[in-house]
Amino acid sequence: MSKDEIPSHHGVEDGSKKTYPNETLRVLCERGSVRNFSEREIPEDVMSLILDAGVHAPTGGNLQPYSIIKIQDRETKGELARLCEQNFIEKAPVDLLFCIDWHRIKRWAELEVAPFTATSSFRHFWISFQDTVIAAQNIVVAADALGLGSVYVGTVIDFVSEIREMFNLPGGVFPVVLLCVGYPASKPLPRKKLGMDMIVHNEKYEERTDKELLQAFNEKYSGIKIPITKERLDLLSQVCKDVAGEDFAERCIARVEQNGYINAVQRYFGLHYIANRMPENNEDFLKLMEEAGFQWFKKFEGR
Ligand SMILES: Cc1cc2nc3c(=O)[nH]c(=O)nc-3n(C[C@H](O)[C@H](O)[C@H](O)COP(=O)(O)O)c2cc1C
Repeated sequence: MSKDEIPSHHGVEDGSKKTYPNETLRVLCERGSVRNFSEREIPEDVMSLILDAGVHAPTGGNLQPYSIIKIQDRETKGELARLCEQNFIEKAPVDLLFCIDWHRIKRWAELEVAPFTATSSFRHFWISFQDTVIAAQNIVVAADALGLGSVYVGTVIDFVSEIREMFNLPGGVFPVVLLCVGYPASKPLPRKKLGMDMIVHNEKYEERTDKELLQAFNEKYSGIKIPITKERLDLLSQVCKDVAGEDFAERCIARVEQNGYINAVQRYFGLHYIANRMPENNEDFLKLMEEAGFQWFKKFEGR
């Protein structure tokens, strides 16, 4: 089943009565992913401001272990759009590919005769992944602040080999996420989120009661009722069987029938991020990382 056939999980937030003490907070809280881009080009100076905001993001030790590939070529964008099966990638005037980049720093270490093990260290992986995403998010905010919009595309992870080849990524460089940037054809409405009462814990992790938890998710996903079709039920049932056995599958289908619809979390992990398929190729990802020159998850053997 293609994901286009499944109704969206996105509810829209009612922010009509919200006010903000300044423009920064308004931009942060009113942001919504843009997938509907206008034809309007992004002027060079505007693009520079946005990218510079990314470069100024905090990074562990100020090492800046990431690179951004700026993609404007129509053909390349088209190729990416087909690969990821998301048309807006081609329509966006600029796509930015964020990559962990230890290649540049390794070269620096070699040139300056310094020891280097970052591509073999889980710690360095962990921090550089965060560094890369934080820089990307600075760019998201900067783009919004200048009247543009953006959307992340995480599915590049499914095409690491192709992307490494398309963009000449050397060893030590690993694609993390794509960001499509452009002027919105229509302003997206902010999506509903779990509130601070669920996300923020005071001093220690505070377990919510079942009632509180369900109430919060029901509020976020209110109105999300996926109509039952035979195809969906069969898939959901099969996924449940594969993941947790026959009894669980029966319980899940009974819940669907009792409700008269497929609920939001059943949709998420039964029909969209399909629970039995998601962990299938964990080992392939490790292999891809090794092929890209990383031994992050291996015992370090030294020289
Ligand atoms: C890491 C990451 C990967 C994402 N990948 C995709 C994607 O492949 N396709 C897409 O349409 N949206 C993608 N999104 C956008 C999310 O769907 C979106 O942020 C989410 O639904 C919340 O909506 P909002 O951004 O409007 O608040 C991604 C977002 C993140 C942070």
